[in-house]
Amino acid sequence: MLGEKDIGKKLAGEQAANEVQDGMKVGLGSGSTVYWMVKRLGERVQQGLKVEGIPSSNQTEQWAKEFGVPLTDFSQVDYLDVTIDGADEVDENLNLIKGGGGALFREKVIAEAAKKFVIIVDQSKVVTQLGAYPLPVEVLPFGWEMAAKSIEALGCAWKLRRRNNEIFVTDNGNYILDCDFGMIPNPEELHKQLKMIVGVVETGLFANMADKVIIGGQETTKTIEA
Ligand code: 5RP
Repeated sequence: MLGEKDIGKKLAGEQAANEVQDGMKVGLGSGSTVYWMVKRLGERVQQGLKVEGIPSSNQTEQWAKEFGVPLTDFSQVDYLDVTIDGADEVDENLNLIKGGGGALFREKVIAEAAKKFVIIVDQSKVVTQLGAYPLPVEVLPFGWEMAAKSIEALGCAWKLRRRNNEIFVTDNGNYILDCDFGMIPNPEELHKQLKMIVGVVETGLFANMADKVIIGGQETTKTIEA
């Protein structure tokens, strides 16, 4: 049986998949909410929908193959019609923290490539101001300690992400620093400061990027547009 959050994730994910139109190139985000979107998209493909997707992680690629969503890549397409992805936090202005699953770099690439960027979340992800969720920052392994010192100087406490006692390595072969900045009043500015640091590959701050957020509740969804 699905828990409260999972019911919201499923509703939001399925609604986003139902809105995809024939012929679209679709950016496929990552995470447990995206799972429901990819699954539903696969069902629609079995019913005759023609779409092609670009996945943002090895896990999403695996789900797309499992559910029968045809895949393509950036050597074949110049843009995506829509990218659909989850988030760890969404604020009132539709700024996001992403990267809880460690796929933030590829997620940003498919978000940038899309004409429309749609976020799917359960109600628990919606906040007034970003920052309760530690900000994931992807860094190159070489000299990551130096990058961490510079990030710390911007006013955060960081932790090198680990999984099963091993350093977590992204699909790009990099590390993730989970950075607690406290509340983040100006996400765009913080993102720019972090990107100036040598060794920072990408940040989980997605400022002024989302066009639409679908929030899944227990029985219905709510949509916010930018
Ligand atoms: C992965 C992400 C995910 O979109 C984010 O962590 C949300 O995941 P979930 O839908 O499992 O709550 O940014 O890098």
